[in-house]
Amino acid sequence: MITLPPVDRSTLVATRRDIHQHPELGFEETRTAALAADRLRSLGYQVKTGVGRTGVVAVRNGRADARCVLLRADMDALPIEEANAVPYRSQHPGKMHACGHDGHVAIGLEVARRLAALDLPGSVKFAFQPAEEASNGAQAMIVDGVLEAPQVSAAFGIHLWNELPVGTIAVTPGPFMASVDQFEITIHGRGGHAAAPHQAIDSVLVAAHVVTALQSLISRRRDPLEEAVVSVTEVHAGRAFNVIPARADLRGTVRTFGGRFYERAPQLIEETAQGIAAAFGARAEVQYRRLSAPLVNDRQLSDLVRDVAVDLVGRTNVRDSVRTMGGEDMAYFLERVPGCFAFVGSAGSSGSAPHHSPTFDIDEESLVIGAELLTRTAVRFLS
Ligand code: NI
Repeated sequence: MITLPPVDRSTLVATRRDIHQHPELGFEETRTAALAADRLRSLGYQVKTGVGRTGVVAVRNGRADARCVLLRADMDALPIEEANAVPYRSQHPGKMHACGHDGHVAIGLEVARRLAALDLPGSVKFAFQPAEEASNGAQAMIVDGVLEAPQVSAAFGIHLWNELPVGTIAVTPGPFMASVDQFEITIHGRGGHAAAPHQAIDSVLVAAHVVTALQSLISRRRDPLEEAVVSVTEVHAGRAFNVIPARADLRGTVRTFGGRFYERAPQLIEETAQGIAAAFGARAEVQYRRLSAPLVNDRQLSDLVRDVAVDLVGRTNVRDSVRTMGGEDMAYFLERVPGCFAFVGSAGSSGSAPHHSPTFDIDEESLVIGAELLTRTAVRFLS
């Protein structure tokens, strides 16, 4: 039986507040990365900076033949002006830790401190990851070899989650968070006078039909037992009330948990836009990008995390069916190595503002729970 050193709550909270005051956007996390690297070096880890541009990797080697656990914390903030009047308010205008990644970094460093004090059989690796919000920080770290030398056997991570009360943990086996795809559609019609539509090809009307047809993909082309969302979120066309514009631009997103609709979505969106446009004598150009894969938790390792969570907060406080159509680029780690990503409830007793809102804040007790969950998960996996 391994005895863990207690959680250092005051340092954990102080670190989170320090990072909260100095939010940095994706691939600009230089101060946060330096803070993490210094702390990890002083704990005796081998530290590599510049992994995936601003990412930091820390390793503590176990026996050569032993397993290696990867713990991942994302570091980036959002381009939001903080509206909270707290003493640790953001000091960077227009930037804010409005998703809880400040807490993830603080938790990662506290887990590193506790694990450094133990004599573990396996290796421990930390990935302090940049640019989660922009959805390519994980890939940048993977390209730079974060999963190799030593080869990672399993990866774990958490997200502080304001849709769950503090004291609860969500561990869902299988598909947990959605794929994130982005599409851009340009309709090329023919401009003309609003009073003479027969002389023009109305890009606005074509765009409206495309929007409707895209929603029909969800109702008619998708297996109703496969979850999926199509949202058209941007419509740009026209500059005058009496001119039919030649061009209309649409943007939007497709979210799924994988499956057949996920595979076919790029083709379906393209065919629909082009077919509708052709019916009106217009032309559609479609660009489709996969931003993040579906996040799928390994079933056995989800059981391991769930057992740790039950020990920590009690069976009634562990949820096993929470899922979200939100995306998370931890998915790319979990595509390559088995693992589990869990939500740690962070809403205060009177409720808390949603993620990505200017009044977002967390109940800091969630930091302690997050640090316990990841520390014990790593110990249990390696023991
Ligand atoms: Ni987040």
